[in-house]
Amino acid sequence: MQGFEFCCPTKIVCGKDALMKIGDELKGLKVSKPLVVTDQGLVKFGIAHRLFQILDSQGICYQVFDQVPPDSSLSVVNGLAALYEQNACDGFVALGGGSVIDTTKGAAASLSCKGVDFATLQGSEILDATLAPIIAIPTTAGTGSEVTLVAVVADTERQVKLSFTSYRLVPPVAILDPALTSTLPPKLTATTGMDALTHAIEAYTSIQKNPVSDAFALGAIALIKENIFIACAEGGNADARSALALGSLMAGAAFSNAMVGIIHAIGHSLGGLCHIPHGQAMMLLLPHCIDHNIARGLHVGLYGDLLHSLDEALYLATPAEERATAFAQLIHRMNARFHQEYEVPINLGDLGVERSQFAAIAKQARYDGAALYNAQEISLDDVLGILEAAY
Ligand SMILES: [Fe+2]
Repeated sequence: MQGFEFCCPTKIVCGKDALMKIGDELKGLKVSKPLVVTDQGLVKFGIAHRLFQILDSQGICYQVFDQVPPDSSLSVVNGLAALYEQNACDGFVALGGGSVIDTTKGAAASLSCKGVDFATLQGSEILDATLAPIIAIPTTAGTGSEVTLVAVVADTERQVKLSFTSYRLVPPVAILDPALTSTLPPKLTATTGMDALTHAIEAYTSIQKNPVSDAFALGAIALIKENIFIACAEGGNADARSALALGSLMAGAAFSNAMVGIIHAIGHSLGGLCHIPHGQAMMLLLPHCIDHNIARGLHVGLYGDLLHSLDEALYLATPAEERATAFAQLIHRMNARFHQEYEVPINLGDLGVERSQFAAIAKQARYDGAALYNAQEISLDDVLGILEAAY
């Protein structure tokens, strides 16, 4: 066995009414005045209010920043850091999807590196100082950011997504409460869930995979496939929501250690240049990237293994040499079902992407941080072929 490292230091508080434990968790982290970070959608739908009520009932003094946009940027990160300092806060509570949690990580990193231009921190293991504690409370089951070492923040001027990577960015506590995702519409449940599935699949096929990340990835795939369609059809099903949230978290722990590859490299580029939401980009690209890899003889055995996690009966009924293709077809069928039942777009053309943008998307994807962990160097032709197939 090759040597490896695996780190997942996050305390996981999961289950019905888990949010009620926020006071104890803040106390455990010695946080007496947290800055609660969230977005306007969560305020509008009353999810943020639920957290505020609990904090109020537990006598916790806090500040609120509720202006994180869906596609957060360096300026939002800097604004959040300034608010934290002005109000003498001593920790963060991040309530939201990937954008909220990543913005919070960015602000915590910025505060720990006073005097350093935040944009120059891009890359890995560059944060020396200890960050202010973050309690991450995801309201989508997708990014896994509550346990990952990654923060993705947009540089809106350069139209590029910057990936910040450091073990110091891993939140010490994650709270998964099914009530927080019960009103998430089916479309968002589907796209964010397919982002989580992509994390597990890319972690399992990454050049940095290891036996522990594999175990997390396989566990995640089993939870996601069993619960994603139930959660879409029955939003208030607390068991399915909890299981999907846990699947997303486990996929996050897998890719936080094994990293991701070509699918995320292209997805980040689609996000930066065409403003395609991350989960939507992942769902749309996933089967075509798997097709692309199989055609080049990449990960054929691994995809064959994954068929077992996705559909054991089909795995047993399929000859070994056909399992990878059967796996790809199954992912295509999942997308077709989301499209048919919930009108989720599964073609780039339907999202307004123009073929004239392909060259720029391909160029940026080649240099994305995720490309470093792909099994082969990504060529412009690789990306152009995948974009054309997904069009
Ligand atoms: Fe992702």
